[in-house]
Amino acid sequence: MVYIRNFQRGDLEAVQKIADLSLKENYSSELFLTIHRSWNGSFLVAVKDEKVVGFISGLNNPKDSSSRILMLSVHPAYRRQGIGSSLLNTFVQRCSKLGSSQIYLEVRPSNRYALEFYEKRGFERADVIEDFYTNGESGIKMIRYL
Ligand SMILES: CC(C)(COP(=O)(O)OP(=O)(O)OC[C@H]1O[C@@H](n2cnc3c(N)ncnc32)[C@H](O)[C@@H]1OP(=O)(O)O)[C@@H](O)C(=O)NCCC(=O)NCCS
Repeated sequence: MVYIRNFQRGDLEAVQKIADLSLKENYSSELFLTIHRSWNGSFLVAVKDEKVVGFISGLNNPKDSSSRILMLSVHPAYRRQGIGSSLLNTFVQRCSKLGSSQIYLEVRPSNRYALEFYEKRGFERADVIEDFYTNGESGIKMIRYL
């Protein structure tokens, strides 16, 4: 069985490993801890058989009632079992409780599966941001209205 809970400091190594396996950018452990400190309720991990197998992290901006997904990753061995959807659903619930009216994120145009994943779950393509990633790739901005 899979369950979703808040990130704890002891999850850092597992989360970093999943990020390294799944995401093209390199993220420092300090970045994860900064996100954890800024809004812990939005940094969630998925646990299966007592192992962290995925995570989602984001930020909330009460000034414009928006939330942003910074990272979402599931360990490659655990994909297509609904774990990414569970993480996203819990994140959306947390954002709703805080009064967010929209959630946005950026995805690489080359990340076909993630684009499909978000589109199937109510996100729309809203914009293209040139030179968004460190390798110069643009980012597709996607929004889901709550
Ligand atoms: C995107 C991601 C988080 C989805 O996690 P997941 O646990 O596999 O998600 P779910 O099982 O809930 O849903 C899988 C959905 O992803 C898409 N998808 C993922 N892998 C796919 C594949 N190999 N072929 C086709 N579609 C795929 C489909 O929309 C699929 O939905 P479906 O099963 O209803 O067809 C995961 O693929 C991942 O970690 N990717 C690498 C990191 C990344 O790209 N993150 C998003 C950008 S921040």
